[in-house]
Amino acid sequence: MNRHSLSRLLGAGLIVLASCGPAGAADEAQRLGVASCASSTCHGRVSPANNSYAQLNEYFLWSKYDRHAQAYRTLEGDWSKRIAANMGIADAARAPECLVCHSDYVPEAQRGPRFQLRDGVGCEACHGSASGYIDAHYGPDASHAENIALGLTPSENPRVQAQICQSCHVGDKQRLVTHEIMAAGHPRLRFELDTWLTNMPVHHSEDADYAQRKGITNGADRWAAGIAAAAVDYMDMLQAHLDGHSLTPELGLFDCHACHRPMDTTVRRTSGEKWLTPAGSIRPNDYAIRTLAVVAGLRDAALADRISQQNRTLHRSTSQSVARFKNRSADLRDTLTRAQAVVASRPLSASERAAVRRALLQTASEGYFRDYADAEQLFLALQALAAVSEADRAGQYDRLFGLLTNEQNFKPSRVAAEAGSLLR
Ligand code: HEC
Ligand code: HEC
Ligand code: HEC
Ligand code: HEC
Repeated sequence: MNRHSLSRLLGAGLIVLASCGPAGAADEAQRLGVASCASSTCHGRVSPANNSYAQLNEYFLWSKYDRHAQAYRTLEGDWSKRIAANMGIADAARAPECLVCHSDYVPEAQRGPRFQLRDGVGCEACHGSASGYIDAHYGPDASHAENIALGLTPSENPRVQAQICQSCHVGDKQRLVTHEIMAAGHPRLRFELDTWLTNMPVHHSEDADYAQRKGITNGADRWAAGIAAAAVDYMDMLQAHLDGHSLTPELGLFDCHACHRPMDTTVRRTSGEKWLTPAGSIRPNDYAIRTLAVVAGLRDAALADRISQQNRTLHRSTSQSVARFKNRSADLRDTLTRAQAVVASRPLSASERAAVRRALLQTASEGYFRDYADAEQLFLALQALAAVSEADRAGQYDRLFGLLTNEQNFKPSRVAAEAGSLLR
């Protein structure tokens, strides 16, 4: 997982532009399409501008390096054809169940004349419909607050970022990679806010004027905000997608490795391990919930206890009824929202970051992180928490990373042992 930040190599300054985009915004907020942002006097420069707030080469970076620009074309490729054939879909590039994430699939009424689904995940999928702000946002008097009032998404805010990215990289109330899509051949989705933001070809630069206009969030706090959002938003996904299922609920919502663990006795249930679910029942995907309890618990121990207790109750209810499970997840969501506010109230201090790392390693060393996805999140968390501290030795997590390189050979007991040695 390479961390790179193109933006650090590129400059930025201040410019007032003559004119950008088509004239005349529609009454209802509309997507104007990537073409409306991409002209050479707007965001379509090849090299970064040095007299503007923004780099103005965002379109160049997006179209040349960013996978989001390819998202629609992926649906026309062989891999998607195979998935579609397995599902009995005629054409993935016309199927709403794929377009919701592989394009900016807004309702017809919100598509302006230059908008096209072929653009994949374009500027407005993350920055909001431009019809309201396009004429005002480059003017000499435009402020960030005014742009937001005109419909620009505050995409620098970590809570908002989490919501934007997760909507496709995890799913949301509308979007889901269903178990059927997975079983037809879709790659397993995984996500962590700080790492994915860093690995996206970054097209902004966090320089002095940026800090003044938008503020800067460090990687550890972004990680924490991402985990909090993942916990809360998972409850919303459960609420939205559980209805209408008879024999099993939508399995795409649940912990994949609860069922798809390798046939290896080291990962079977043993009396020494602490399991929250009754034997044989499906397991909610609670990595973010448990981790949010750890982070919030540094500031409010009672709240952390309440999360743990409600999480246990939620797990038990998986073997009871859908109605009970929904009620328990609504209760837990309330508590998680409070924990989210506690985490967001101020940045993580250096000692809090160290405490989170210790707590995660402790939990891992006790064998709680027993499947591949948990171990992967552990690694991403340790990396995000370490990135802000000068004192951390480079490469200290290389061995942990090495245990993750081949999912088929994954051994939970080795992760526990490595966590134990990192703790010492
Ligand atoms: C909830 C959002 C979502 C839905 C729905 C969805 N995808 Fe995806 N898809 C993604 C994301 C995100 C990735 C990138 C995963 C990664 O690399 O982490 C992806 C990756 C892929 C890839 C692999 C691309 C590559 O070259 O690595 C294919 C193929 C694909 N999707 C096809 C489909 C098809 C076909 C459908 C509909 C049947 C579909 N997707 C539905 C979000 C979605
Ligand atoms: C997948 C989501 C995503 C897409 C697609 C995307 N952006 Fe961004 N953009 C971001 C994020 C995240 C940031 C950094 C946070 C912020 O400043 O809002 C950002 C920042 C920016 C900035 C702010 C620079 C500053 O100094 O304030 C501009 C301008 C911008 N993007 C333009 C574009 C344009 C133009 C496109 C399309 C060619 C585009 N973005 C596509 C997510 C995206
Ligand atoms: C509208 C849906 C959508 C949104 C919103 C979105 N993504 Fe994506 N993202 C995708 C899809 C689909 C792909 C896979 C594209 C492909 O290869 O076909 C992808 C690919 C990526 C990749 C490349 C993954 C890889 O394995 O190389 C990164 C990194 C990424 N997204 C980060 C982000 C971040 C960060 C955000 C939020 C600022 C975000 N995305 C928002 C749909 C989305
Ligand atoms: C409650 C158990 C359960 C959960 C949870 C679950 N699956 Fe499955 N999965 C199954 C069953 C049952 C099948 C069908 C196996 C068969 O047909 O032999 C299956 C099939 C699959 C297949 C096709 C495998 C093959 O050999 O054809 C894939 C891929 C898959 N699931 C991925 C996932 C992913 C990714 C997740 C997590 C988002 C997940 N599953 C969650 C039970 C589960």
